[in-house]
Amino acid sequence: MLETNSPVDIRATIVQMRSISLGVSIITLECSEIAASAKPGNFVNIKINDATQPLLRRPFSIHHVRGSLIDLMVKSIGCGTTLFCNAPVGSSVMVLGPLGNSFDRSSTPFQTAILVSGGVGTAPMLFLEKTLVGEGKKVINLIGGRTKNDLLAQNLANCRFATDDGSVGFRGTIVQLLQSELPDLKKNGTLKIFACGPNLMLKALARFCHEHRLACDLSLESLMGCGIGICYGCCVEVSNPAGGSRTILLCQEGPVINAELLQI
Ligand SMILES: Cc1cc2nc3c(=O)[nH]c(=O)nc-3n(C[C@H](O)[C@H](O)[C@H](O)COP(=O)(O)OP(=O)(O)OC[C@H]3O[C@@H](n4cnc5c(N)ncnc54)[C@H](O)[C@@H]3O)c2cc1C
Ligand code: FES
Repeated sequence: MLETNSPVDIRATIVQMRSISLGVSIITLECSEIAASAKPGNFVNIKINDATQPLLRRPFSIHHVRGSLIDLMVKSIGCGTTLFCNAPVGSSVMVLGPLGNSFDRSSTPFQTAILVSGGVGTAPMLFLEKTLVGEGKKVINLIGGRTKNDLLAQNLANCRFATDDGSVGFRGTIVQLLQSELPDLKKNGTLKIFACGPNLMLKALARFCHEHRLACDLSLESLMGCGIGICYGCCVEVSNPAGGSRTILLCQEGPVINAELLQI
């Protein structure tokens, strides 16, 4: 995986807030220092207010970069995300970033990128898609959710959908969709999979990619505190190429890992 630049911790103004689905908003921050060095797959760690609750910062993938602006796609699931989604335009938050590594677009040759995402795991895909297209790659999105209301495909191109209830697209999981589409996808040359979503989905995808010898990067989630390798709140067990397993700090050696590392 690729290394990130040195992070900065800055106060950033919320310049736009758009609700795109029930409980999901695109929050735009004026953040030129971070926008200038961000890479697809990086995240930011945000102190949502100046109060003691919530005490810790909350991590969010960089959804898109537009000039000096960064967009975040935030799903309201608890105290911090609800406060963030309800923050008024013009207010400010402390933003530490860019953090973590980025999707690896260069070490394995490929012609077509398959971006596989589930739920709010679609958040990093817009920035990744735009970057890959700028580099001359073909991009196809496979997007999954429990129902059509969970699909967050705004502004993404070439989308194919899977829903558990069949309300849109393929009825089944995103990995089953990939399986059924694979013969057609392979007509687009050498493939590389880039994925983000619930960890169970990513485990199933890692197994599938291993069996089908597909190169795959996964962006994992864990609870996080500091985001910079101090608190040890983000330990994740991965396989060790030399045998057995080892523990990584996801904020340092992730959030993006090679899918082969989930073969434990
Ligand atoms: C690298 C990284 C990137 C992320 N990117 C995004 C993003 O782009 N958009 C987005 O909406 N969310 C993203 N998340 C998840 C987001 O950080 C959490 O939803 C948020 O921290 C929850 O804060 P809260 O105060 O609202 O929830 P809390 O009130 O702290 O918790 C509410 C519930 O959610 C659970 N929870 C908290 N954090 C997580 C987590 N990381 N994974 C799973 N369950 C959790 C808690 O255990 C609890 O049950 C990302 C997480 C990581 C690690
Ligand atoms: S979040 Fe603190 S060490 Fe990773």
